[in-house]
Amino acid sequence: MEEKVEQEVVSMPRIGDAAPEFTAITTQGEINFPKDYKGKWAILFSHPADFTPVCTSEFMTFAHMEKQFNEAKCELIGLSIDGLYSHIAWLRTIKEKIEYKGMKDIEVTFPLIEDIKMDVARKYGMIQPNEDSTKAVRAVFFIDPKGIIRTIIYYPLSLGRNFEELYRVLIALQTADEFGVATPADWQPGDDVIVPPAGSCGTAKERMEGKENMKCYDWFFCTKELDKEEVLKKVLKQ
Ligand code: BEZ
Repeated sequence: MEEKVEQEVVSMPRIGDAAPEFTAITTQGEINFPKDYKGKWAILFSHPADFTPVCTSEFMTFAHMEKQFNEAKCELIGLSIDGLYSHIAWLRTIKEKIEYKGMKDIEVTFPLIEDIKMDVARKYGMIQPNEDSTKAVRAVFFIDPKGIIRTIIYYPLSLGRNFEELYRVLIALQTADEFGVATPADWQPGDDVIVPPAGSCGTAKERMEGKENMKCYDWFFCTKELDKEEVLKKVLKQ
């Protein structure tokens, strides 16, 4: 069994916290985070290293889907513990040379943060030394228009992310905010939603049942229909 790295005491941002502030150099110039993104959703994500295969497949997929995220009022921001020139060379290689799963000529136009000193990665708990002490894990932070962290997902180095799931999370968070509901397992726009949202007081089955578009499975578990078009009208830019 490999010896574990001694635990350093780190404070990790948590769901509900204000996103830690930083200024950083990126492939698209300097950014002040989260200030520059106020009023928009942002996904701040880290990858372990440039010029590595899983990360390349992820960047191509994310760049390919960027418009879809932007249309849901969300900006993407990447980060790794590499320098700016490495980032630029890697993104150029992706554009000029890599064809993968039908994606080619992929230009990454969202900012990729250089973080050689690991300042940002440490602030966001992206360095998890028992996984790797010199590379960021695959972290994904969903930050809302007020700069509050709403979801955090971590993946290990070997596991490429599912970007359809990240998109689903973004739409579900916005749906919860816009309609005051919660979303059940595997929810997709057009599926029934949960009322009242999880965490609030249970609603009597008798009170809810029979109401329009409402279904109660027990006193603590009621759903209602929510039309896909209605969701998309709120969530997507018009
Ligand atoms: C990759 O992206 O392929 C990778 C990066 C760091 C460690 C392992 C895999």
